[in-house]
Amino acid sequence: MTTQFFFEKYSHMARSEQGLAAAGEWPSLRPLLPDFTGLRLLDLGCGYGWHCRYAAAHGAASALGIDLSEKMLAVAREKTDPASPIEYRRAAMEDVDFAPASFDVVLSSLALHYVEDFPALAGRVFRWLAPGGQFIFTAEHPVFTAQGSQDWLYGPDGEIACFPVDRYYCEGKRTAHFLGEAVTKYHRTLTTYLEGLLRLGFVLEHVVEPAPPENMLDLPGMRDELRRPMMLIVCARRPG
Ligand SMILES: C[S@@+](CC[C@H](N)C(=O)[O-])C[C@H]1O[C@@H](n2cnc3c(N)ncnc32)[C@H](O)[C@@H]1O
Repeated sequence: MTTQFFFEKYSHMARSEQGLAAAGEWPSLRPLLPDFTGLRLLDLGCGYGWHCRYAAAHGAASALGIDLSEKMLAVAREKTDPASPIEYRRAAMEDVDFAPASFDVVLSSLALHYVEDFPALAGRVFRWLAPGGQFIFTAEHPVFTAQGSQDWLYGPDGEIACFPVDRYYCEGKRTAHFLGEAVTKYHRTLTTYLEGLLRLGFVLEHVVEPAPPENMLDLPGMRDELRRPMMLIVCARRPG
């Protein structure tokens, strides 16, 4: 996600302009979030910082947003009251490290499919969490990332025929096209996500495949989103 053109287009997407209210998964994610009062949040791949600001507005003691992109962080800083307990830091989430038990909640929204080694990252998240802390993330669903193109297959008249799922057990790099750019993502199976967390000692609290909310179904293309899962939401807890 680097070019100016891409960033320009990203900045005009509904969720970039309107924030969480325009995010299709928000009605499914919000009820899974804790009462942030007094909690320390780490947001991996924070983008414009919507979740950091949500946590701060709901009483978080601190929120640290990590993102690779200085452009995303510049917008996040612009949108953030400097008096709020939020810090943004440019880094790859694979490279950061923190003292054990530094956070009560580690959240990541739609960024983990850019990371090659999920179990390694999740192991570090486990250490960074205080006992009883939560790891809550959304990522592109393995059904959505498996084949790679992330596009429908079309019939002779240009109508959607179906969504291709292929190479499911072949984990690794995929190149999809998003907003006209080639974007590298990493496919992994549902087992790698869920079993990976269980093996580390996390307790799984919620696994959700969010469908588009009723009030968004009339947006262009949204009813087709009922044909296959695009997103996975997982809420896991480090035992207390
Ligand atoms: C689809 S955006 C989601 C942004 C934000 N979490 C949200 O839900 O609005 C993905 C973000 O992850 C960031 N990102 C991708 N790979 C990353 C990595 N390895 N480390 C840190 N951030 C990364 C991108 O720069 C981008 O801001």
